[in-house]
Amino acid sequence: KKSDFGLIGLAVMGQNLVLNVESRGFQVSVYNRTTSVTDEFVAKHPGKALVAAHTLEEFVQSLATPRKIHIMVKSTAVKDTDRDAVDAVIEQLIPLLDQGDIVIDGGNSFYQTTERRDTYLAEKGLRFIGAGVSGGEEGARKGPSIMPGGPASTWEVMKPIFESIAAKVDGEPCVIHIGPGGAGHYVKMIHNGIEYGDMQLICEAYNIFKAAGFTTDEMAKVFNDWNEGDMQSYLIQITGKALEQKDAETGKSIVELIVDKAGQKGTGQWTLLNAAENAVVISTINAAVEARILSSKKKARVAASKELTGPTVNITGDKAELVKKVHDALYASKVISYAQGLDLIKTTGESKKWNLDLGRIAAIWRGGCIIRARFLNKITEAYRENAELSNLMLAPFFKDLLSKTQQNWREVVSLATLNGIPVPAFSASLGYYDSYRAERLPANLLQAQRDFFGAHTYERTDKPEGQFFHTEWPEVIG
Ligand code: 6PG
Repeated sequence: KKSDFGLIGLAVMGQNLVLNVESRGFQVSVYNRTTSVTDEFVAKHPGKALVAAHTLEEFVQSLATPRKIHIMVKSTAVKDTDRDAVDAVIEQLIPLLDQGDIVIDGGNSFYQTTERRDTYLAEKGLRFIGAGVSGGEEGARKGPSIMPGGPASTWEVMKPIFESIAAKVDGEPCVIHIGPGGAGHYVKMIHNGIEYGDMQLICEAYNIFKAAGFTTDEMAKVFNDWNEGDMQSYLIQITGKALEQKDAETGKSIVELIVDKAGQKGTGQWTLLNAAENAVVISTINAAVEARILSSKKKARVAASKELTGPTVNITGDKAELVKKVHDALYASKVISYAQGLDLIKTTGESKKWNLDLGRIAAIWRGGCIIRARFLNKITEAYRENAELSNLMLAPFFKDLLSKTQQNWREVVSLATLNGIPVPAFSASLGYYDSYRAERLPANLLQAQRDFFGAHTYERTDKPEGQFFHTEWPEVIG
């Protein structure tokens, strides 16, 4: 019997995805460049419908047509001219495949690279799906959230397998056809940007609690409690668990033993660059990316901590009261972060004519992926009520939430600022909120400055829109 599905690249994510597909009743062929990895993997799972292939020829021959080949190797190509491991696998596959066979790239590939591959494979008569897969190792095994992009007709062929392996929420699989070409990897990129935002916001909450003298056990309890309420989410849940964890050797809190230098693999920075290119404000997500960058410059920070002064931290008062306030600041900031990420998806979707469905995208993020959270239901509902929603903040539920939380949100940003505790993402969110709702911004003065030094002209409040004026400003000497 030929296999229903093939997977290339048996690192942990690849292995877990194979076990997931197999567990749904499909026979899976596997191939890894290092043959021993393939053999060991298959030997470790006796009795499963797995076929170990030692060569790519063998692998391709073992698959039923149209072949469905999922590549799970690391993609690094960003520029047009870059070629990486995914391209190398594709090049090796092309001469072995038949017209109509399907190649799926399930890594975190850059969406423009996916578009290049989509076009290239189409020219060869092959079909391509660029699929974002979220959920880490556990998600891959038990049910990830999958964001596939490519032709709708190709999605139809893949749908039964993708729907059966994806996470389920209320019986609905966490996978939809996102859109053509690079749409799937694009949405996965923004998912990761939002993931960065969520993580940083949680870290800022933790940092305030730490400054207020909470023990790690007290903080763990706060996050565990929050996970029972409206902020229930995977990231809040793992934060509580991480804070509870003690180091086996020293018995100390493991979180407090970890060096405060954040790593990142690129998707957050791509999101930031993409937003700048599209003139969309994602200040919370940007703050999160930049917070990781600054954290990584530990040496410079340690040196500066001896040179640059700040206030002495002095946070007193009722702890339960502070917890409530930080809860509201975190929740409101999180809403802003999602509003920004979704605005970017909407803007790009429109300019690329991808015809994206924001409500359904939020729905497939409810399960399987890293940003899975209870409140995504509310986002889905908001777009179901109004598909044309210009900004998430304006949906009735979120408008109300931002109105109710804002006093505490402002107090937390003020408290942190007065105590010299950095809250770049909390304050970026609040700055966005206040700017977006401002009928009047000081850009009139900015336009005057531009016209002053460069005769860039301006519009007037007392003249029709679209008419531009210039003032003869006085000459400035020196
Ligand atoms: C996921 C994750 C996953 C990975 C990211 C983030 O959705 O399962 O986003 O793709 O953890 O690459 O990694 P960095 O934090 O290293 O950038």
